[in-house]
Amino acid sequence: MKILVINGPNLNMLGIREPEIYGKETYQDLLALVKDAASRLGAEAAFFQSNHEGAIVDAIQEAYGKYDGIVINPAAYTHTSVAILDALKAVGIPAVEVHISNVSEREDFRQISYVRQACVATVMGKGFDGYVEAMEILCDRQVL
Ligand code: DQA
Repeated sequence: MKILVINGPNLNMLGIREPEIYGKETYQDLLALVKDAASRLGAEAAFFQSNHEGAIVDAIQEAYGKYDGIVINPAAYTHTSVAILDALKAVGIPAVEVHISNVSEREDFRQISYVRQACVATVMGKGFDGYVEAMEILCDRQVL
């Protein structure tokens, strides 16, 4: 199972960015955790991070025919991007939406998720472990 893990804007700043919300661990720490989990699950993980909406759309399009699953934390684009939603629908690759924080308990503007419509599941408020749970969900679906 080949999984593409996509992270949106400002997630490259993990560890520096609002540590009281997102924790003190860095983006590199996140990659190490997810790589470990992937090998435990017998999956292969590749990573993409961008601060640009169009680059994320391109990455989703390029995943077509190459990946069996997508784990995506679109960050702020979660709440604004019809283009990312449309890209996920276009490729039809099973995707799981992840948020490090519990967005359901945060500001009103974070209550909308466009991408959710194209995702098989959403994991939020579990910190970095949410990415591992998302990969487990994708792997379980493939086995069942
Ligand atoms: C986030 C939540 C979003 O609302 C926010 O814009 C982010 C990160 C999370 O992982 O908790 O950048 O997706």
